[in-house]
Amino acid sequence: SVIETEDAAYDAEGYTHFMRKEIHEQPAAVERALRGRLDGRFHTAHLGGLDLDPREARAIRRVKILGCGSAYYAGQVGAQLIEELARIPADAEPASEFRYRNPVVEADTLYIAVSQSGETYDTLAAVQELRRKGGRVLGVVNAVGSAIARECDGGVYLHAGPEIAVASTKAYTSTAVVFALLALHLGRIHDLSPADGRRIAEGLRALPGQIEEILRQEDRIAALAADLAKYRSMLFVGRVRGWPVAREGAQKLKEVSYIHAEAYPASELKHGPLALISPDLPAVAIVPDDELLDKNRSTLGEIRARHGRVITIGHTEAGEDAVVVPKNEPELDAILLPIPLQLLAYHAAVALGHDVDKPRNLAKSVTVD
Ligand code: G6P
Repeated sequence: SVIETEDAAYDAEGYTHFMRKEIHEQPAAVERALRGRLDGRFHTAHLGGLDLDPREARAIRRVKILGCGSAYYAGQVGAQLIEELARIPADAEPASEFRYRNPVVEADTLYIAVSQSGETYDTLAAVQELRRKGGRVLGVVNAVGSAIARECDGGVYLHAGPEIAVASTKAYTSTAVVFALLALHLGRIHDLSPADGRRIAEGLRALPGQIEEILRQEDRIAALAADLAKYRSMLFVGRVRGWPVAREGAQKLKEVSYIHAEAYPASELKHGPLALISPDLPAVAIVPDDELLDKNRSTLGEIRARHGRVITIGHTEAGEDAVVVPKNEPELDAILLPIPLQLLAYHAAVALGHDVDKPRNLAKSVTVD
């Protein structure tokens, strides 16, 4: 399928769909997000457009991240990175909710608006409301010169290149990478040690090659997706770093395959959704090799004991229903783990014969109220 675009230079170039092309562009997109931004001397990151001197950065007491859809989920990854690396309390909220709830705006909170298109009306309205109340807002935006980019006090561009498919893939990943850079930058101004700064920087540099490794498993993941396409509903579970990954995975599947998907924190399963587990409801579990591996394994056991099929995305599990991703630093797990889920959603949609690049009822950017 071919989508008409104003940018004649950008077409699907031999790929059947833009979504697949954009999934495969991720190693290059991540290179561009990192280019010139890592400082090998002080083991930190430099982000030119931030407009935040070290003294101002130290004075930040809280970070609030706003976005819609996948931008919101990438923002949740960002909040976790900032909290982990910089130890600044951080959270993400849908911009669409924030703008309607008369939010308390604080002078020592750093607000960050996330948007691929830079034109999402809900996100723009949240930024305008924040600016009106005197909040400092940074943008993490892909489209240069877009409405949100212009409205913010400063920000960081993704440099992911045009994203045409409605379902975000490379912009999502680049957003997570930019947040890792921002978290590294804030962390090194706060209490992140030079050794940890170097460890994270090296982890970031390894990402493009590791994404290539995941993409080389596409045929296997496609076969798995074709099999999963027979189900009517799927559960996505993850803990802490795996939780936004599970949400994004469920979002991708819903958007393009129209299979009902629900994301749940793994720890919340026993507080409700365990009642749903049956052979008809497979669970995609995010199981990185981190300090929560044992906890996650016991969740898998609970699902299997109820005859639920479990598909794992992680580092340690093996077998037909397991996708193994390369190991990086645990703090960066939420960058690599979504990539198999993008391929899973894409190939499930292809198997079902859907219009992958233009899913029904959805628009690439929602510029109306
Ligand atoms: C729409 C799209 C989503 C996207 C969201 C935010 O709802 O269908 O895929 O994540 O907008 O878009 P933005 O351009 O602000 O990142």
